[in-house]
Amino acid sequence: MTMVAVLPGDGIGPEVTRAAVRLLQAVRPDVECSEAIVGGAALERGLAPFPAQARELCDSADAILFGSVGLPQYDGKPLAERPEYALFALRRDYELYANLRPVRVLPGLEHASSLKPELVCGLDLLVVRELTGGIYFGEPKEQRTVDGVEEAVDTMVYRAPEIERIARVAFESACGRRRKVTSVDKQNILETSRLWRRIVNAVAPDYPDVQVEHLLVDNAAMQLVRRPAEFDVIVTENMFGDILSDEAAILTGSIGTLPSASLGTRTVANGRFGLYEPIGGTAPDIAGKDVANPTAAMLSAALLLRYSLSDEPNAARIERAVERAYADGVRTVEISQDSASALTTREFTDAVAGRL
Ligand code: IPM
Ligand code: MG
Repeated sequence: MTMVAVLPGDGIGPEVTRAAVRLLQAVRPDVECSEAIVGGAALERGLAPFPAQARELCDSADAILFGSVGLPQYDGKPLAERPEYALFALRRDYELYANLRPVRVLPGLEHASSLKPELVCGLDLLVVRELTGGIYFGEPKEQRTVDGVEEAVDTMVYRAPEIERIARVAFESACGRRRKVTSVDKQNILETSRLWRRIVNAVAPDYPDVQVEHLLVDNAAMQLVRRPAEFDVIVTENMFGDILSDEAAILTGSIGTLPSASLGTRTVANGRFGLYEPIGGTAPDIAGKDVANPTAAMLSAALLLRYSLSDEPNAARIERAVERAYADGVRTVEISQDSASALTTREFTDAVAGRL
């Protein structure tokens, strides 16, 4: 029996995840969806951010459908006592090193972008973000007092095999796309970036049909708003990927439309174990109001079907239903032209479900 661990988390996580589960169950009634609390939702009940019960569920699951985590009242706490720790633990403990963030403009949303429509026309890129290394995980990582002065340190460290495996994910992804990889680093300053660029160049000859370019991260941030449609696959380290993927996402008009897949080395019955989540976060200002855009969560469910269940037909079915809804003018409030015709999260979900 195929089982999906559903971890709705905080903020808009529960409402958008509910929408995604509904579509998943509509196309695959045989898949069991079991829920557990993580993040702030767990902390509020006196549990750890990634409680044992959630871990057990994930251990026996084929894939994880994740909402989002984070609550402002925990901002002052150490990482292990903050909601975000759930994501850290999941990424680290299941070694989900490859974060795939496809960025495409949905039909009819060309005018929702903050860029001119002609710049985003044809935008179709994939951010391949390294997810288990770099400054997010390097040690030491602490706040301390030295000679009576407070200081803090984070460590950016990469080992060559970590770079090589994510580079291969990027090159292999490019082979099924427009055959272009842009590797982003800061090699004029960072040693990790010098190693990064060397390893990417060493891997490149194994993919002779793929064109490689290197950009410094500051320049990459600029090119993303100058000529976004020219990018195919962008591969970069953990923190640069975090920042650039938000920038890339908003080019599409709404960060609420972008899904992600985080894949590791573990295989399951029908594919690769993975975690699937919207990239947009908890959006606490609109949480619980039934106005959040569930598109990213829905498209994350499609990625789950594609990568962890090897069910391409149903992945495509969800993607087509979402596209048809957009083409028909179905909108949640943040991208609606007039708020009077905007649909609630539930209504939007009905509209997509009806187009499956
Ligand atoms: C993301 C998020 C996370 C990250 C946060 C919530 C820890 O911003 O997945 O992009 O920085 O990786
Ligand atoms: Mg982020």
